[in-house]
Amino acid sequence: MREPSFFYIANWKMQLTFAKTVLFCKKNQNNFELLTQKKNTKIVLCPSFESLAFVNDFFKKSSLSVGAQTCSSYEKGAYSGQVAAQSLSDIGCKYCLVGHSERRNFCSETDDDVAKKVQQLLKNNIIPIVCVGELKKEREEKKTYEVIERQIRAACQAVKKFTKESKIFIAYEPVWSIGTGDIPSNQEITEILKYITSIAKAVLPKISLVLLYGGSVHEKNVKILKEICDLDGFLVGGASLDFQKFQKIVT
Ligand code: 13P
Repeated sequence: MREPSFFYIANWKMQLTFAKTVLFCKKNQNNFELLTQKKNTKIVLCPSFESLAFVNDFFKKSSLSVGAQTCSSYEKGAYSGQVAAQSLSDIGCKYCLVGHSERRNFCSETDDDVAKKVQQLLKNNIIPIVCVGELKKEREEKKTYEVIERQIRAACQAVKKFTKESKIFIAYEPVWSIGTGDIPSNQEITEILKYITSIAKAVLPKISLVLLYGGSVHEKNVKILKEICDLDGFLVGGASLDFQKFQKIVT
């Protein structure tokens, strides 16, 4: 069954300091709250770690939710600098991105790390938003489906070890599209989402999927992207840092 809500997930990456996050939230508080009142619309903000508790608390009277950008693959222990899924849950995080290409590329995160993080999140009742997608070179070498299959299998096997029925979000984010303005055609996205679904269901027939697209989503291309019928939402980077642009994407 399809999700009744359409999701707009704002990944603020490491673009805003704590002070700037506070300013951004205060400046746009009413407008954010108005956006959340749009029917069948769910807004999730993903600030960096130090701002999560503030953002969650600031919007606690609205239906806006907060998500982290990653978590530790360990439960607890001598892992300096890491943040446990349980801590994220304690401060009110409902969602957490996993395997974003910036984590895979700059922090050498592997499919195995992604799998462990998915399990930590499920244990703590946080919904994982697993990011998958091919590099430009992989696309040129026609390896898109191979890469996506590997990434999806790893994440879904991790879910399977934990539960037979679960809901996870999967964001198809072609790496070559992030921050570049280049996006795949609607037909390409549709076919990849179908493929993602078929792989995930082959691993775990009862899995419930929420399918997102991310990569250069902005106010000028969103109308066309919204025509993709199996899509449940967007993962928005750059355009989510400009409230006017984000508002146009949502409305
Ligand atoms: P852009 O929207 O800036 O291309 O970033 C996409 C992204 O990485 C979201 O996670």
